[in-house]
Amino acid sequence: MSKSIIDVQSLTAVYGSVQALKGVNLKVEKGEIFGLLGPNGAGKTTLLAVVEGLHKPQDGIVHIGGINVQADSTATKRQLGIQLQKTALMDDMTVSELVEVYAALYEVYLTSGQIDKLLARFDLVEKRNTLARRLSGGQQQRLALAVAIANDPQIVLLDEPTSALDPHARRAVWDIVRQLHDEGRTIVLTTHAMEEAEALCGRIAIIDRGEIVACDSPSALIANLQLNSMLKATVELPLDQVRALPSVSHARYTGQHLEMETAKPELTLSALHELASSAGRSVRDVMLRQPNLEDVFLKLTGRALSESN
Ligand SMILES: Nc1ncnc2c1ncn2[C@@H]1O[C@H](COP(=O)(O)OP(=O)(O)O)[C@@H](O)[C@H]1O
Ligand SMILES: [Mg+2]
Repeated sequence: MSKSIIDVQSLTAVYGSVQALKGVNLKVEKGEIFGLLGPNGAGKTTLLAVVEGLHKPQDGIVHIGGINVQADSTATKRQLGIQLQKTALMDDMTVSELVEVYAALYEVYLTSGQIDKLLARFDLVEKRNTLARRLSGGQQQRLALAVAIANDPQIVLLDEPTSALDPHARRAVWDIVRQLHDEGRTIVLTTHAMEEAEALCGRIAIIDRGEIVACDSPSALIANLQLNSMLKATVELPLDQVRALPSVSHARYTGQHLEMETAKPELTLSALHELASSAGRSVRDVMLRQPNLEDVFLKLTGRALSESN
């Protein structure tokens, strides 16, 4: 039997003729923050839904704590705290009623003191009698997290916990995720934001078009591909000419910014200046940056993380 707290083997899942997961293998170890990083449509929500026992796979097996999810979804659900991507919280209920009801779904009956204690962790005590629909985006997301851990689960599954949040609200959620991890819980979260994966996760599976294309720590993912530095500049030049510059292995535009992967940044930069001046253009905002997970994704799939499938 696998020692991993979540063990996904050869998982395939379909919606009609759409193959959402194509033979996914994945092991999550107890106590880690594990990230599923991939663009919209990659299959992240579907993978969580199968693990949660909410979507029946076409093929494959999921074990949680050694128990087969398909065989005993009640036992496995007890270990899980779930925050769905589209939280359909019953918004005509107050904050404290929602926490109470969700805990009761797991046969956990909270006293009002326990509810207040839980809400305090999420900075929601003052909102206890407020209707859920009157909360701000950040407050709703924190409520979704409070609801997810109302049954005191060992494993917390978070589907895009910070999408559509402003940077401040996003950081508040990151802090909560880190606290849940510090308490010894295992966290699996999905994201399409590489900075979120880098900031929170000990290990990451990069998922694209229903397949895991790489799985490791963020630093190992970057190191293993031996990516070069990225030279950035603001300049308008034809891409084919940029790609022909010495030492450039990859070049693309993100908005007005030209990004070039190069093993020899100085050589490339001086050639870029020559090319630009012969075209009567100027090179501005030159920057050199270390490779990141976005570059890993681009290298592995040929597409940017921000593009949908
Ligand atoms: N209910 C559904 N009906 C039909 N197709 C779906 C449904 N849910 C998801 N899909 C498709 O399955 C694929 C994976 O979707 P999803 O798991 O939601 O990806 P992600 O969460 O990474 O954005 C996509 O091609 C998506 O369009
Ligand atoms: Mg999703």
